[in-house]
Amino acid sequence: MLTNVEHIGIAVRDLAASNELFTKLLNVGPYKSEAVESEGVTTSFFKVSQTKIELLEATNPDSPIAKFLDKKGEGIHHIAFEVDDIRAEMERLKGEGFTVLNEIPKRGADNKLVCFLHPKGTNGVLVELCQEIRE
Ligand code: CO
Repeated sequence: MLTNVEHIGIAVRDLAASNELFTKLLNVGPYKSEAVESEGVTTSFFKVSQTKIELLEATNPDSPIAKFLDKKGEGIHHIAFEVDDIRAEMERLKGEGFTVLNEIPKRGADNKLVCFLHPKGTNGVLVELCQEIRE
């Protein structure tokens, strides 16, 4: 089951500069910075009340974020929904005709198992499902 919007991901070219910008905007600094090597990104997380913002900077030219920036420039990259059971939700969504970009949930930033849906099937919006890793 999808519960809430867990975070909104924003692609940025210069994470240090964007950290400063978002600290001014949200009036709170990032609570976490984390590299996700498998995705070729470094991330920063901000939290305002229940809302999280994830800033993503590419760490190499083959990173999906580097490709996104080349194609579309900086901006909203994905919307992440919290799910209580990621595998069950992936099965449900595949049954509804959505295409998952990874068949097996993978470890994302901020202690989450994640799966992305192909934006071609979601009105151009990259959707992330994420489930807190409890272990
Ligand atoms: Co995300």
